[in-house]
Amino acid sequence: MATPAPPAAGNTAYQTRSAPFFEISCYVSRGKCVGTGRSLMETELMQARDEVKKRIHELYEQGVPFFSKKVFQHALEQIEHCRNAPTPPNGAKAPIISMPTVDGRVVEYVLETGSVKPYHPDEWKDTEFVVGDPYLDYRAVQHLTRSDDIDLFDPDAAYSPTQLLYPLLVRDKATGEFLVPSDCASVANLREAFAAGVKSWEDSEDCKDLRSLLETRDRRLPKVSKIVAFACSTMAVVTDDEARRSRIIHQHALMLTLRDIFSRQQQQPGEGAPEIKCFAQDPSYTETDAAVLQETGITVLGDPRGFLEVDDESIVISFSPNIPVRQVIADIARPAVLAWNHVKSEPEEAAFCNCMWPGHGPEHFCDPGSSRLRDMVRDYYHEPVRLGPEKAFGEASVYIRRE
Ligand SMILES: C[S@@+](CC[C@H](N)C(=O)[O-])C[C@H]1O[C@@H](n2cnc3c(N)ncnc32)[C@H](O)[C@@H]1O
Repeated sequence: MATPAPPAAGNTAYQTRSAPFFEISCYVSRGKCVGTGRSLMETELMQARDEVKKRIHELYEQGVPFFSKKVFQHALEQIEHCRNAPTPPNGAKAPIISMPTVDGRVVEYVLETGSVKPYHPDEWKDTEFVVGDPYLDYRAVQHLTRSDDIDLFDPDAAYSPTQLLYPLLVRDKATGEFLVPSDCASVANLREAFAAGVKSWEDSEDCKDLRSLLETRDRRLPKVSKIVAFACSTMAVVTDDEARRSRIIHQHALMLTLRDIFSRQQQQPGEGAPEIKCFAQDPSYTETDAAVLQETGITVLGDPRGFLEVDDESIVISFSPNIPVRQVIADIARPAVLAWNHVKSEPEEAAFCNCMWPGHGPEHFCDPGSSRLRDMVRDYYHEPVRLGPEKAFGEASVYIRRE
């Protein structure tokens, strides 16, 4: 029987058999660098790690960019080239994806897409993992220099803030069918839930406060031509957690509110409202999400296309992402507006992390602050305004660039 091609990451349109969403959507594998062949003892690894840690901090403090749109664009082109290239015959060399490091080298990753790995949980013995198309993984400065993961420390990838991550797709060994989430809302159901969520956000005091703050502001707002949201998450996967779904819908609804405010603000007398494009990037979106969001003018983009869209005329939205969105943005642009997790001072952030996860610091969180991020909001943005409610956005603020 012919084996179906592995579906694209984040695409759930290929449903053939059901499995719990979070069970199968959370498996990923980190791409491994083509190493130097060195096999280091643990003591050597620890020494190498300490040296790397020191050097990475130096490079960061010297202002070396850790993230760049050029690197993302080049990685995307290589991934797409590999996707479109014919699969090499057995034994032939697999395609290579190269990525620059912050210390001026280039590291290489062998494309693993299509390879098969065992799937461990006992209850799924008749299944296996198939490695899907890679997407980018973003390592904050704290992630590159974290002390406790000696097992995960890879001296070759250590200086690489942009790495590769592969989704692991679960396949039935006997039939070759892929297992995907079964509990996905229909387009009609999601459309209805989304409209109700947008209305409840628009009717809320928090939304009215935000509108009045931005609409009656005496200072001129910076020009905005697009809104790019990261990590707002799928709304289509049905969950019993109504609060979560409502939070996620409110995060998307915020895009529509900001689009409305800024396009009215920028409208010239006698002219139509200028177009403000809206984009959303999150690998968890399903086709249902994409269809419903498109109806409201929000286009879903695959990673890293959201980052490629971000420029100085953008509004960036991001709440509790699984990637260090704020550190990436601090390196690639000075967007007009930022609506994201409040940027805390170093001691405040350390205290917050310890309170959320006793004994753990910002390096154990996905979107930690950094000196560069703090400098950016201090030097380029007005005093932030808190964005509520906390249950929809977490501890979040809106930052407006000084003109
Ligand atoms: C903890 S959830 C937060 C979801 C939502 N913003 C909230 O506040 O509940 C983190 C989200 O980050 C998303 N994510 C992971 N990698 C991403 C990437 N490369 N680009 C954008 N979003 C990403 C995940 O899919 C997930 O939806």
